[in-house]
Amino acid sequence: MKKFFLLSLLALTVGARAQVLVRIHESAPEQALIPAEIYGQFSEHLGRCIYDGIWVGKDSPIPNTDGYRTDVLEALKALKVPVLRWPGGCFADEYHWMDGIGPKEKRPRLVNNNWGGTVEDNSFGTHEFLNFCELIGAQPYISGNVGSGTVEEMAKWVEYMTAENGSMAELREKNGRRQPWKVKYLGVGNENWGCGGEMTAQYYSDVYKRYALYARNHAGNHLFKVACGPNADDYEWTRTLMKNAKGSMSGLSLHYYTVGDWNHKGSATAFTAEDYYNTLTRTYVIDELLRNHMAVMDAYDPEKKVALLLDEWGTWYDVEPGTNPGHLYQQNTMRDAMVAAINLNIFNGYTERLKMANIAQMVNVLQAMVLTQGAGMVLTPTYHVFRMFNVHQNAHFVPSEAPCGHIVSADGGIMPSFSHSVSRSGDGSYHISMANPYLDKAVKVELLFDGFRPKAVSGEILKAAAVQDFNDFDHPSRVAPAAFKDVKVAGKKLTLTLPAAAVVVLEVK
Ligand code: AHR
Repeated sequence: MKKFFLLSLLALTVGARAQVLVRIHESAPEQALIPAEIYGQFSEHLGRCIYDGIWVGKDSPIPNTDGYRTDVLEALKALKVPVLRWPGGCFADEYHWMDGIGPKEKRPRLVNNNWGGTVEDNSFGTHEFLNFCELIGAQPYISGNVGSGTVEEMAKWVEYMTAENGSMAELREKNGRRQPWKVKYLGVGNENWGCGGEMTAQYYSDVYKRYALYARNHAGNHLFKVACGPNADDYEWTRTLMKNAKGSMSGLSLHYYTVGDWNHKGSATAFTAEDYYNTLTRTYVIDELLRNHMAVMDAYDPEKKVALLLDEWGTWYDVEPGTNPGHLYQQNTMRDAMVAAINLNIFNGYTERLKMANIAQMVNVLQAMVLTQGAGMVLTPTYHVFRMFNVHQNAHFVPSEAPCGHIVSADGGIMPSFSHSVSRSGDGSYHISMANPYLDKAVKVELLFDGFRPKAVSGEILKAAAVQDFNDFDHPSRVAPAAFKDVKVAGKKLTLTLPAAAVVVLEVK
């Protein structure tokens, strides 16, 4: 294996350039907007995502705003979270929303069967979630229960949240909220090929239509109904859903996690250079998956009326030693920052069909934005990438090209040796996000506009002393962004050096 890795590293250097020329075609016809929603998040009743991570309750000694942790709330506001998916995941298909409304002391205490058998006290329910979305300025994305819930239950949940009148609206008012919420995104089930009911694609597509039919638009609220899509490369699932149900869905979801062997996922922090490149090439597989699923969708829907939503993605490692295996708590290193940057650069280019992506998960679970411990909170390297990249939200995608070499990992994966994307904001400024995946090589980057002559450039860089570096409660700023000033401007060209394993975002005016 060692020998193979050496050969792979050799392959990695052959054909790779330490220099990249990025041609930016800002003079091309204006492209689609990059939907803010592809910078979306996912929060599940799993481990310490909701309880501890978001919600501590009003009586907690941890500083809170109406029960929500104030530190997490402020960090998420700064992130500009466009959309938040809830309550699962697998949890969603065992969740009965009526358990989570009304007086807290009367709410049932249930075992969370999917995630470590933790007792769920339902103190965080529909009101707590939708009010939280309002506080952080995110659109809610509700995942409805198809696996173990009824059509009536889902229909009434929609009515409870969005209707102006009727007994569901009256019940909502009795529970403290007169005004209906605006809820656009409704997921009709989650992973119904697995934890959401172990259904076949054919069976689910019929079930989907029945649930979707009775989820009504109330009081001017227009639902965007999302059918459960495939796992990773299950193209047959996509084909069946598009064939049978495309007329009644606004979107189809897709799940893909960056993971190797599910039985030996590896440590989030103790990894080798070989592991690092394996992770990066595995994450790059998303490019092929998106293209292939979109090609299947194109065959049935050439007008691109049905959106693709990658509503779960991110890295999945072994849990941190000593933590509950069912709570999926993992640390987050500079490797995860590279994964985030590579994915977001890919997503920016596919937004004609890809209308949302939700990283799993927002707090304390899998590839999280923030980690908490008691009253402490740290921002992860992944958080920093999401914050640096949020300039692309609702900006016009700008076509560009950057011929480069390839990295071949020990497990046979392959990816380009340079990652980037470009957008233009409403004020005419350009944002260029770049990532250099090499561990041992800086890359000289030349950025050449068609005709635009930059007058001012500013930027930020995220890099670490070692790619294994992470932020913890003793060292919360070990990996943190810094200003990036070393850019030369000459006419239509910018020149800079991108250090090894680093992410840079430039603003060019
Ligand atoms: O994000 C963790 C789990 O991964 C979700 O509950 C499920 O949908 C997926 O399998």
